[in-house]
Amino acid sequence: MLRLSFGMTKNWKTKLIHSDAHAPEGFRALTTPVYRASTVLFTDAAAVTDTWKQYEAGYTYGLYGTPTVLELAARVCELEDGFRTVITPGGQAAIAMINLAYLQAGDHVLIPESVYIPNRDFAGRVLRKFGVEVGYYPPGASAGMASFLRENTKLVWCESPGSITMEVQDVPAIAEAAHRAGALVALDNTWAAGILFDAFAHGVDITMQALTKYVGGHSDLLLGSITVRDEALYQRLGATQQVVGCAASPDDCSLALRGLKTLAVRLAAIEESALTLARWLAQRPEIELVLHPALPSCPGHEFWKRDFTGSAGVFSVVFQRPFTKAQVEGFVNALELFEIGYSWAGVTSLAVAYDFHGVPNRPDYGHRIVRLNIGLEDVGDLKSDLEAALGRMK
Ligand SMILES: Cc1ncc(COP(=O)(O)O)c(C=O)c1O
Repeated sequence: MLRLSFGMTKNWKTKLIHSDAHAPEGFRALTTPVYRASTVLFTDAAAVTDTWKQYEAGYTYGLYGTPTVLELAARVCELEDGFRTVITPGGQAAIAMINLAYLQAGDHVLIPESVYIPNRDFAGRVLRKFGVEVGYYPPGASAGMASFLRENTKLVWCESPGSITMEVQDVPAIAEAAHRAGALVALDNTWAAGILFDAFAHGVDITMQALTKYVGGHSDLLLGSITVRDEALYQRLGATQQVVGCAASPDDCSLALRGLKTLAVRLAAIEESALTLARWLAQRPEIELVLHPALPSCPGHEFWKRDFTGSAGVFSVVFQRPFTKAQVEGFVNALELFEIGYSWAGVTSLAVAYDFHGVPNRPDYGHRIVRLNIGLEDVGDLKSDLEAALGRMK
């Protein structure tokens, strides 16, 4: 169509925008194309509609996901066995959006004391500002959960295992108590990669993952997911996503789709190395406690054994009491293969020292706790690295 229907020939500047040149058709590959788009085209004026419901109305706007984003959503949903998944720009964005979608002024939300700190901070700094009451409960609560629930409790968060202190929760018991009180249950299922714990089969209504971690798997992207149990929950979530404007990058989704292909082999290798190192560390005289869900020394180990199908590569160690903060930090600094940095679940082993002094309602670990992320290095080399660093603590 070099000529327009009204007879005019296209200027080269117009051709830059409306080209008649095409690549050959019939390309087939194993990868999902990266569709980047804000504008999505409608067939005619009457077809224009501003709805987030892409499954019903077709594609309407890039904010609600291009095919790359929606393929990732569908695949995460398939793995978690949920009703539908929404992709967010990061795990923390998923946490924020769940709170915004399912809470309103006058409601009460319950959060485990062991939760990822920014989750706690969103409740304390943002939800309270908008009239939501915020309460905390011990991660070990099971049947006793009922005493924390109120008439206006609308959402109960779980994170299992908890961040840094690694408490595994009795999610079915918490969900039962929450449901009896008319509250929804949301779970941060990041450690289990949405795989090692079948959240919906254990009573959870809404799951989120930081896909940044095991699904991405290579420390080079930020993404999150929210998966819901049913249509009614999906309606509330989609309507919230539309007005919050939380869009995910198709480029990052393409990397996450690639990450999914190797998730099984990465998780298996990481699980084996992490267990080897956790068991070895448990025998070391410098270590008081190994907080690995698959070890009996981890609070809630019995729930891991009952409910999980495997373990991931993040766990913590607590040093014996005499060790000072400087000695614990010295251990981390002496490691040569373990790098120091936030986030986890990539291929590189990491070590971060935390300080719980003065943090209310947390175990008495003080400055003695170090979280390890086990990567894909040779496990013998990692053990030698840990051994050398422990040897330098005296
Ligand atoms: C358990 C857990 N949930 C959520 C997040 C937030 O994920 P993101 O870094 O993608 O915002 C993190 C990040 O460290 C995490 O550890």
